[in-house]
Amino acid sequence: MVIRNLNLQDFRSFRKKKINFDEKTTVIVGSNASGKTNILESVNLLSTGKSFHAGREEEMIRNGQELGRVSGQLTVDSERQDLEIILTRGELNGERVARKKLSVNGVGKMLFNFAGVLKTVLFGPWDLELVSGSPGFRRRFLDTVLSQVDREYRRAILSYEKGIRQRNKLLERIREGEASPSQLLFWNQLVIKNGDYISSRRADLIGFFNDTGSLGNEAINAEYDNSPISEKRFEQYAVQEIASATTLVGPHRDDFIVKTRKRKQKIERNLAIYGSRGEQRMGVLWLKLAELSFVEKHSQTRPVLLLDDIFSELDHEHRDVVISTVGRQQTIITTADPHTVQGWRKIGQFLEL
Ligand SMILES: Nc1ncnc2c1ncn2[C@@H]1O[C@H](COP(=O)(O)OP(=O)(O)OP(=O)(O)O)[C@@H](O)[C@H]1O
Ligand SMILES: [Mg+2]
Repeated sequence: MVIRNLNLQDFRSFRKKKINFDEKTTVIVGSNASGKTNILESVNLLSTGKSFHAGREEEMIRNGQELGRVSGQLTVDSERQDLEIILTRGELNGERVARKKLSVNGVGKMLFNFAGVLKTVLFGPWDLELVSGSPGFRRRFLDTVLSQVDREYRRAILSYEKGIRQRNKLLERIREGEASPSQLLFWNQLVIKNGDYISSRRADLIGFFNDTGSLGNEAINAEYDNSPISEKRFEQYAVQEIASATTLVGPHRDDFIVKTRKRKQKIERNLAIYGSRGEQRMGVLWLKLAELSFVEKHSQTRPVLLLDDIFSELDHEHRDVVISTVGRQQTIITTADPHTVQGWRKIGQFLEL
């Protein structure tokens, strides 16, 4: 899996930008606010069809413009694939148009068919909160990993989220006396079916993390903190659900906990609560490396690794762990400080922004 080039037009800070990537390693050097994260965001956008951080997708269109475009050419199993995303603000020359158009080789695609053609693993400073941050952050991580390799998972997530929104609306109408509880049955069945699939895949993934071994000399593992979904659980929470007009059980309430255990000790420690900052970062690195192996295992190819200015955030030992994986797949690295990667033999291409 190789991305050959990237073409940006009115994307974020770039009016026009074309980049040819090295087959192995490309290092992009630029000072603060020069657009490094924007470039990796655009590559990741081609991979997932979504921004990893924009609140609203039109934020990605260059200020003052109506249309932004990202395209890239890939080589997948020695075949050429052209990906393109066109973003608008919903209006073009006074006419209503789609806010986002996705295409592969010139053919329009739905999100769940577009995502995953290009496989990437993105690692940036924001990930350093993965172990210690909020549950929503960890759920998004699980979804990102599974969505890369499982089209059915992508479909299930979209359908589940829509189902929960509809179900919550109906709960509100029941509370207001405008609908009857029996109307829940349809949405219950839909979210249980999709929710079961989501939970089982998340359990598999966390099982995979635990099979990948440890980093350093402490045993490390992840435990799935699952919120099961079933008719029985809905019955149990019926009163509270109607009162709050919120679906209270199901995978949208899932979490997982990263734990370590010192050698020859029995006690496990929850890293989010008891870990030092360095230990929490080791946990994050463990998860990101597991993500790489998981995507590789399920797609028979190494995903493109996108490292956003991560070296300056890691201590020596962890930096070496990341560096040792760089040569194993196409890698695109950004840095504000070229010293962090200088004199490094594997560099194929050095670009300055
Ligand atoms: N829609 C947009 N239109 C125009 N400019 C934008 C848009 N969105 C973001 N920018 C600008 O893009 C610039 C570069 O952002 P980016 O985050 O890529 O920089 P960076 O090189 O990663 O910086 P740092 O080293 O601080 O992480 C910022 O100054 C930001 O204001
Ligand atoms: Mg940045």
